[in-house]
Amino acid sequence: MTHLINRNILLGVSGGIAAYKSAELVRKLQLLGAEVRVIMTQGAQQFITPLTLQALSGNPVHTTLLDTEAEQGMGHIELARWADLLLIAPATADLIARLATGRADDLLSTTSLATAAPLLLAPAMNQQMWQDQATAQNIDTLTSRGVRLIGPATGEQACGDIGPGRMEQPEAIVQAACALFDSGLLQGKRVVITAGPTREALDPVRYISNNSSGKMGFALAQASVDAGAITTVVSGPVNLPTPRHVERRNIQSATQMLDQCLELVPNCDIFISCAAVADYRPASIEPHKIKKGGEQITLQLVRNPDIVATIAATRPRPFTVGFAAETNDILTYAKGKMASKNLDMIIANDVSNQEIGFNSDDNEVTALWSGGEQTLPRAGKRVIANTLIAIIASKLG
Ligand code: C5P
Repeated sequence: MTHLINRNILLGVSGGIAAYKSAELVRKLQLLGAEVRVIMTQGAQQFITPLTLQALSGNPVHTTLLDTEAEQGMGHIELARWADLLLIAPATADLIARLATGRADDLLSTTSLATAAPLLLAPAMNQQMWQDQATAQNIDTLTSRGVRLIGPATGEQACGDIGPGRMEQPEAIVQAACALFDSGLLQGKRVVITAGPTREALDPVRYISNNSSGKMGFALAQASVDAGAITTVVSGPVNLPTPRHVERRNIQSATQMLDQCLELVPNCDIFISCAAVADYRPASIEPHKIKKGGEQITLQLVRNPDIVATIAATRPRPFTVGFAAETNDILTYAKGKMASKNLDMIIANDVSNQEIGFNSDDNEVTALWSGGEQTLPRAGKRVIANTLIAIIASKLG
């Protein structure tokens, strides 16, 4: 088992005696890092109170489809969109029948229809009910639609019968939930990505900066989180939404970017330096707006720290990847930078071509590492990012 950090798990509880185990389930999911919200059917509330699950999950429990106050502003559509996984435990015979026929007659069934998240059911019912043909057919219908099952287990039942129908133990249910997220190339790795430009202040209203849009760095952050990594983007000022589940730290200057990166790097497996960091900053920031004067003005600039080289010099160091934006002799310069900054990999691109690079949606790059290289033909930055993440994953020690 790995972790459920950054995973939103919507736990549906329907009305069976096993509902009392959902309290333990909430705790176990949270211990692995999941954010948990709970929907209870009317029947479930006969077995365990919403207050118990509210106290454990730290979120209001959702019980009714149309009571906006009870839903605390998170209606079924918001809940459906919020969820990365809808886990229903226990799933009773009646709930399974309603899901199989596509009913939307309470909050849980409606949210099940409305969500694009995977659905994992932990059935729990009397052994005869489980073995009944009607239930078997409903289960076949649901599994043919891609719904996953965990259990039921076989054994002694609350009603005194012995047979299949007991809800699986919370531990096994949590493992099944983890397994659904465990397929990523960077599962459980921690990735830090710098993105966008830096702004180096001259006075309270002016700065030196560049045209970096941040698109490549944000596409990498998306690809990284999609690959299962716990991802942080340290970003200069850009006009881009934060990808879901990516932690974003906004900075302005190169020194602020370096501070954030140094704070993050002890817990980081992969560092990708995609930011267009200003090489120089004003030697001092004027406290007041600089006034117009003579025909000329001289600015004194000092070198900024090289962030990626600083990170590459830390011990233990993450797998460190830089970018080289070049206009000529691209591969030669990129190799030189990889050596001088002590990087594990460098991504070279030709910024003399207006159609790729800085502000465009497309890119065309060559990834270089010690002993190899791979050229990625022109494609959207999302496609390039996914391939780069796959290459990086394959080179990890
Ligand atoms: O030396 P140059 O700026 O061409 O190197 C580019 C690479 O170094 C990029 O990965 C960029 O993010 C990084 N860099 C940095 N800190 C700087 C300058 C560049 O991390 N001050």
